[in-house]
Amino acid sequence: MTLALPIYLDYNATTPVDPRVFEAMSPYFTRVFGNAASRTHAFGREAEAAVLHARNQVAGLLNAEQDERHGAREIIWTSGATEANNLAIKGVADACREKGRHLITQTTEHKAVLDPCKRLAEQGWDVTVLPVDRAGRVSARQVADAIRADTVLVSIMYANNEVGTVQPIREIGAICKERGVIFHTDATQAIGKLPIDVQADGIDLLSLSAHKLYGPKGVGALYVRKKNPRVRLTPLFDGGAHERGFRSGTLNVPGIVGLGLACELAAHELVNERLRLSALRDRLQSSLTHRVGPVVVNGDERNRLPHVANLSFPGLDGTSLLNTLDDVAVSSGSACTSASLAASHVLMAMGLGDDLAHTAIRFSLGRFTTLEEIDYVVQKFAAVVPRLRNEHGADCGTCEPRSDLRTVS
Ligand SMILES: Cc1ncc(COP(=O)(O)O)c(C=O)c1O
Repeated sequence: MTLALPIYLDYNATTPVDPRVFEAMSPYFTRVFGNAASRTHAFGREAEAAVLHARNQVAGLLNAEQDERHGAREIIWTSGATEANNLAIKGVADACREKGRHLITQTTEHKAVLDPCKRLAEQGWDVTVLPVDRAGRVSARQVADAIRADTVLVSIMYANNEVGTVQPIREIGAICKERGVIFHTDATQAIGKLPIDVQADGIDLLSLSAHKLYGPKGVGALYVRKKNPRVRLTPLFDGGAHERGFRSGTLNVPGIVGLGLACELAAHELVNERLRLSALRDRLQSSLTHRVGPVVVNGDERNRLPHVANLSFPGLDGTSLLNTLDDVAVSSGSACTSASLAASHVLMAMGLGDDLAHTAIRFSLGRFTTLEEIDYVVQKFAAVVPRLRNEHGADCGTCEPRSDLRTVS
């Protein structure tokens, strides 16, 4: 069988819509087009029933409370994870400002968490940004030590988008419970990849996005705990009081139907996909190490998303590498968040020098990745990397691997 090129290994950036999801969404653009808030007629009620079903599908994946009659009320629809993070962070900060004005987060969060925190800091909130270790992890002890009497929110991501490092969420959740602080997690990259349980993990607020989960772009959700404790939030915008007043605006019914089914499929396929993808990822990492070494693994190999490998190729010019790999779609350690060539803030926070950060490549595998694709990518790297290393010059001092980082070769 011939391989379809280019090969997509950038599933953390976005995923294709699963054909089953696409099919399920389709009637909601045309035949079932009603406004889910129009309860006075059948068009609206049919749309509302689909939204209700989707709420339970999303809740099912998180072990949030489901409700056959009303749909899981702890699920608030948003336009994606950026909005969900903003709503969680700014919403809690504002609603709890009488209690205190202190928030805790950590350095390798996505900008969709760091920037709302920065905005609040400009407005007078005190924000503690915890450092991470070389693997990109914070410890529950760091969080415990940072909590003060005026702390209103801890926001720590479930798993990192660039290196795949998974944080000790359950331990952090337990500490937040013990100390009476609301716990938010940005689970955009972990959802559907790892089993997540908002009850066992002690999570009060959780952000997710459909387009990282084989659903459509422009739709996501925020899980908002309703009891033990009941989380209070000030909405970002005012209007028709949809979503229990947390998020006004006419619902994106086709998108919500897509997100619901995407969650249900992920729940069914999680166990097998986790094994399949980690086997493919391990094959990619070890083959590259053997055939292309030296290779530096960035992230935490014991606590890592199953489908992610972030690898640095010391002695290379990262830009030339990406330019040469025209039939492999991956992300680089620079330019991850913008068109700029600044090194990734995640890799810098983990203590990588500019050299390793600039030669880092993120491989993120997904539902449609095959063994043949992985072997092709390895072959391609094996052909290209030694040539580029020679061209770049063995005497490139700035590109030496650092001795304090784990080098696999
Ligand atoms: C960890 C994380 N949080 C938030 C986002 C933003 O998600 P959205 O595109 O749905 O706004 C992303 C997207 O890259 C992400 O990886």
